[in-house]
Amino acid sequence: MEVEKLCAERAIRILRDSELLLPSASAKSGRTSGVVRVPVRDGLSEVAADILRSSGIPSELCVDVFKVSSRRVRFTDLLKDVVPGSVLERIPRSYQQIGGVAVIHLPEDLVNYGSVVGEAIARVSPSVKAVYASSTTEGEFRTRKLRKIWGEDIAETVHVEYGVKVVLNVERVYYNPTLSYEHWRISEEVSDSEVVLDLFSGIGPYSLHIAFKRRATCFAVDSNPWASIYLARSIALNKLRGRVVPVLSRAEDFLELAGENYFTRAIVDLPHRSLDYLGSVLRVVTCGGTLHVYSVSGEEPPAPKLPGGARLVEVRRVLDYAPRKYVYGLKIVKLCAQ
Ligand SMILES: C[S@@+](CC[C@H](N)C(=O)[O-])C[C@H]1O[C@@H](n2cnc3c(N)ncnc32)[C@H](O)[C@@H]1O
Repeated sequence: MEVEKLCAERAIRILRDSELLLPSASAKSGRTSGVVRVPVRDGLSEVAADILRSSGIPSELCVDVFKVSSRRVRFTDLLKDVVPGSVLERIPRSYQQIGGVAVIHLPEDLVNYGSVVGEAIARVSPSVKAVYASSTTEGEFRTRKLRKIWGEDIAETVHVEYGVKVVLNVERVYYNPTLSYEHWRISEEVSDSEVVLDLFSGIGPYSLHIAFKRRATCFAVDSNPWASIYLARSIALNKLRGRVVPVLSRAEDFLELAGENYFTRAIVDLPHRSLDYLGSVLRVVTCGGTLHVYSVSGEEPPAPKLPGGARLVEVRRVLDYAPRKYVYGLKIVKLCAQ
């Protein structure tokens, strides 16, 4: 897309913070003087234009080809002469960035190297203000214990997924930014006026993406009170077209109370146990309605036993979960009785 040269720097910063910029590609001069062409991810130009407009930056859509550079400096490159080789080998190559916070699975006995690791991460990702070493996710709420290894004390942060803002405290709620594409992808399938059940919603990224784009209603159900609180705050942060209703409840209780054939679509995201809920979720979905079910399995995808009134129509690998274990996305349609 094209913006005026004077606004280009601000536009690039806003689009980068919103995850809308094409990674590793640089802006270039436009065909006419005084304008700059900014590389935006495929299919997201309209969202990008909306966001720039709301920041007072006019833009024009255009089509162009941008070179993508294949090599970026990694934080581990900066550690080469700083930590012993045997330590460097055990430092994970990747970390998650959630808003201004970076989270890395640093082995317990390497925490002494935390501050140099944190500083290296902040040098390659300048928007990082704090770096935490984390445990794996645990307990019903799938939260993780964090230990700050570098930077400011940031309790909360705002992360932006394809223009949708989610506010959270990384220690209080489950959140995985690697799923942002999946959140966006599911929202693309939803139509205006649908009624969606977002079961095990966490801080509600599926619901927020859907309501950001469609005049749909989403019920986001989670048993972690902090998840509902942060979802309520994210609802206030975004300009939503549709409605999101945060529901603080255990899934079992909600499903018992919900009326039959009420939701046109359900998202079921508790990968170790989602399949246990299939029967009760099918009861509350309308005939012809869709279920998006996430489930962990090995190289072979899960093969759920479905009642006669439902058909599996799609299976995709969505996430690497552990060595040779993956989260799969299953799409199931509830059939109408003949
Ligand atoms: C994998 S996380 C959900 C992630 C979320 N859908 C997302 O995309 O970010 C699973 C969520 O289920 C919630 N949870 C676990 N058991 C539950 C139950 N029995 N009823 C309701 N929520 C539950 C946890 O608090 C956690 O937020």
